[in-house]
This record gives sequence, C-alpha cells and structure tokens, in this order.
Amino acid sequence: MANIIDGKTISAQIKEELKEKVTAMQAEGRKVTLAVIQVGKDPASSVYVGNKKKACAYIGIHSLSYELEEETTQEELLALIEELNGRKDVNGILVQLPLPPHIDEGKVTEAIRPEKDVDGFHPESVGKLCTGQPGFVSCTPAGIIQLLKRSGIGIAGKECVVIGRSNIVGKPMALLLLRENGTVTIAHSKTKNLKEVTKRADILVVAVGKPKMITKEYVKEGAVVIDVGIHRNAENKLCGDVDYEDVAPICSAITPVPGGVGPMTIAMLMNNCVESADSCFLGGRPV
Ligand code: GUN
Repeated sequence: MANIIDGKTISAQIKEELKEKVTAMQAEGRKVTLAVIQVGKDPASSVYVGNKKKACAYIGIHSLSYELEEETTQEELLALIEELNGRKDVNGILVQLPLPPHIDEGKVTEAIRPEKDVDGFHPESVGKLCTGQPGFVSCTPAGIIQLLKRSGIGIAGKECVVIGRSNIVGKPMALLLLRENGTVTIAHSKTKNLKEVTKRADILVVAVGKPKMITKEYVKEGAVVIDVGIHRNAENKLCGDVDYEDVAPICSAITPVPGGVGPMTIAMLMNNCVESADSCFLGGRPV
C-alpha cells in the first residue's frame, strides 16, 4: 500500500516556519501586507478568499480586503491595482479569479507589478521561471514541489509526466520539475495513447479536471501520484482526478483528496507574501 503524502501536516509545518519568520521581521519593524481583491460574490471564490485571509491572520500577515461589486468596470479595477502598485505599505496584490466576463483577466494579471505578483501569474513571473531567474512561482505547482521534497521523494533523473497544460498548474509544474532535473512530459486532451505515456511516469501529476479519471491502468507500479483535482460527487463527498481506491494499492506514494495538494496552495501563497516583503525569491525551493 502506498505512503500517503500528508498535505495538511506539511502545509502546517510551512505555515509555522513562516509565522516564525514574520514574527522576526515584525521585531525589526518590517510588516507584511497582502491586498486581496474579489469582484462579485461567487460563493467558491468567497470561500477561497476567506481561507486566504484566515491564513494571513494566523501567520501575522496584514491583509487588506477589497470586495468590489459585480458591476465594477475594468477601468475601476485597473485604477485600484495601480493605486496598490504605488503603495509602499502593500507588498503583495492578489485578484481572485475568475473575474466577471466583462473584465479581461489577462489585462488585470499584467497590471499587477511583478514585484507584488504573489500569484505568479504575470507573464514576467512566468518568463523568469522559464529562464531560471528568481521570481514568483504559481502556488499550486510550487506546493507540489514542496510535498515531494518534504516527503523525501527525489526528482532528479525521474520520468515525470504532467497531465494538463493550464497556465496556472500544468505548464509551471512542468517547468519546476525540469528545474529539479526531472525528465518531463506534458500530456493533454489531444495526447494519443495517454495510458502508454502516463505509464512511463515515476512521478505522475494529474490536473485534468475530471473526477476519478485516472485508474490503475494509467499508473506504473511503484509510481508517485499527485492529484491536483478536487470535485464533489453525487453524495457531496470530495474526490480528485485520480480514482484513489483503485490507484493507491499499486503506487509508492499518493496525495489524498482532500488533504493533499489543496492545503499547499495557500501555504505557498503565504510563502510568496513573505518573500514579497523580503525581496528574496525562493519560489518553489525549500522555505
Ligand atoms: N482562483 C482559483 N485559484 C486561484 C488562485 O490560485 N489565485 C487566484 N488569484 N485566483 C484563483
């Protein structure tokens, strides 16, 4: 039976480390401030934003909350970002996605100063990750690297397969695994013979967005399986993109849903916030 990679415990460790660091910074008179912007009242976004603010409070990060009306114009949102970009007391800016359809997410992402881009979504942050320069890294893939490292799972020389090519997870995940000297393949919805490709993986990262799609037929015996998906089934129970009961018996380690990748995203956001005030970019490396 597989080792269960415990994201709850690992994320709690990271948050403790960050709390200590923030306490030390405060003792030197340095404060960490994150501005969180939500446009509209999407219930899932409200839960995520609430959790982010709670994590800030726990660690000692000051959070500024902007809850804007659904009807807010793009110009108004860009004007707020511009104001926050210019404020010396604001270290990080986060605009919760998705935005209402009348607002261009790309324009908003690009408006945030890269030095305050704690989500790591700005094209400059992505370019720096791609070229190996220090910069902010998207939180979910950075969290997965921490899960692997802190579970003693080596990446160098391993066959790594990432299923999914989103800008937020799949692509930065592949770049981070490459930075750790993995041999990386990105598979996606047009990949032919997906099972053959995924069966090559020593480390399989699944971000397909389909409940329980990955069964043991997709997994090599002894592989490490990381499940990025989160879904609610008909009985209101949470499940991932991986059929956990089917896959766990044949792999060496696996992340559960919930309690695997999910808690790491907020922990790494907190890490990025601390870095935004510290100006030392460790994104994706040990904190
Ligand atoms: N919506 C869903 N996940 C995220 C995230 O990581 N950051 C932001 N800004 N919005 C999201």
